[in-house]
Amino acid sequence: MIFETHAHYDDEAFDRDRDELLKTMHAHGIEKIINVGASLEGVKDTADLMERYPFVYGAVGIHPDEVGSLTEEDMKWLRSLCDREKTVAVGEIGLDYYWDKENHDVQKKWFVRQMDLAKETGLPIIVHSRDAAKDTLDVMKAERADNLKGVIHCYSYSKEHAREYMNMGYYLGVGGVVTFKNGKRLKEVVEYAPLDYLLLETDAPYLAPEPYRGKRNCSLYLTYVAQTIAQIKGASYEEVVEVTRRNAERLFGI
Ligand code: NI
Repeated sequence: MIFETHAHYDDEAFDRDRDELLKTMHAHGIEKIINVGASLEGVKDTADLMERYPFVYGAVGIHPDEVGSLTEEDMKWLRSLCDREKTVAVGEIGLDYYWDKENHDVQKKWFVRQMDLAKETGLPIIVHSRDAAKDTLDVMKAERADNLKGVIHCYSYSKEHAREYMNMGYYLGVGGVVTFKNGKRLKEVVEYAPLDYLLLETDAPYLAPEPYRGKRNCSLYLTYVAQTIAQIKGASYEEVVEVTRRNAERLFGI
């Protein structure tokens, strides 16, 4: 069964049918889901979701677009949530120079500060990095992130960078973009990287795969992502599902 490593079911896009949708997951082959917090509100909702659904686990962290008003008090609160049994990662944390909502030094400061939470708790990190390839790698190297475990979520950089991350022991998160006609660079990375380093993820409600591109995404569509990876790698669909599930279980310890 499929392990969904990155979704945002706390998003308002699911307000109408969240419960109905989540209850259909098992019947459609989705075994476990990590709901990823991105804002303080999102982390709170993630904590609620992981209490309510046995197959939903949580990642707690603040997305770089949302770090502007963070305080040390907030870090204490996040730290306390890290101790919950179903919290399996710190994330999503990182740098985003595409939306560029916060000053780069501020983004770096809170990226580092949240990596500290992972160091303190032994949790893996879920890294968000957009249009910030060099700085993300530089910050992670300076912080000895090779001593942590984690995933580069929605991987969007080059093969060379992928090699650097894999050398540090990191996984690459692959989602809907791999099915896009203009997803050539990611297809090349998927061809290059061993299956042992890939994780399946949606980033739902965003980035729905073909044939649903532009619509609301959900974990049920991971079948399209797994099929595309199987085609690229000349593997069977079952092998892709099985190996990525084992990768996720190893990384997140569940
Ligand atoms: Ni996300």
